[in-house]
Amino acid sequence: MKIDVLTLFPSMFDGFINESIIKRAKDKGIVDINIINFRDYSLDKNKRVDDYPYGGGAGMVLMCEPIFRAIEDIRTSDSIVIMLTPSGKLFKESIAYDLSKYKHIILLCGHYEGFDERIKSIVDMELSIGDYVLTGGEVPSMVVMDAVIRLVDGVISKESLVSESFNDDNVDYPVYTKPREFRGMKVPEVLLSGNHKEIDAWREEQRISLTNSREDS
Ligand code: ADE
Repeated sequence: MKIDVLTLFPSMFDGFINESIIKRAKDKGIVDINIINFRDYSLDKNKRVDDYPYGGGAGMVLMCEPIFRAIEDIRTSDSIVIMLTPSGKLFKESIAYDLSKYKHIILLCGHYEGFDERIKSIVDMELSIGDYVLTGGEVPSMVVMDAVIRLVDGVISKESLVSESFNDDNVDYPVYTKPREFRGMKVPEVLLSGNHKEIDAWREEQRISLTNSREDS
């Protein structure tokens, strides 16, 4: 899988792409991540990418030209172009799963007051990571990349993915390790029983009750 990120702040991605599971996926050649500064696609002599909104109002608006030029340069017939915006469709595990099947994902990060509305005509999907406004699309694009990359074949073991949260809309079951008792808190007896049928049943019950209590809160 190839992921191209269009941003005005490339260095925000340094830690994200060079640590842990994402780094391993890159090193194994499973995912190729390119961070592209779309300012490089500006035709303006000062490399300007934003301007004042028509009709007045606060803040600056990202212009069409550099973003259209960047997307037209990198998109192929295998690409999906996604714009990160608080007004987009709510990002969920099921969307991450669908995206994990793509060969090429282009993530467009906004900043300032927003994008020129006409930019929507060149994107395939608008995604929001939640009902709050962040300073830009960089953190949301890292959230989307993280959730997608870990689902790509070969990145983490199939076994780890099987029982985890949101596979079937339920959250994951609780896990414990040594010691058996810590500051008066004991590991549930069933987990020490060695009876795998009972352990599986307990875990399933926990998944359902934790999901219900999460929905009630
Ligand atoms: N840009 C700013 N806030 C955002 C959000 N919540 N989701 C996606 N992109 C954003």
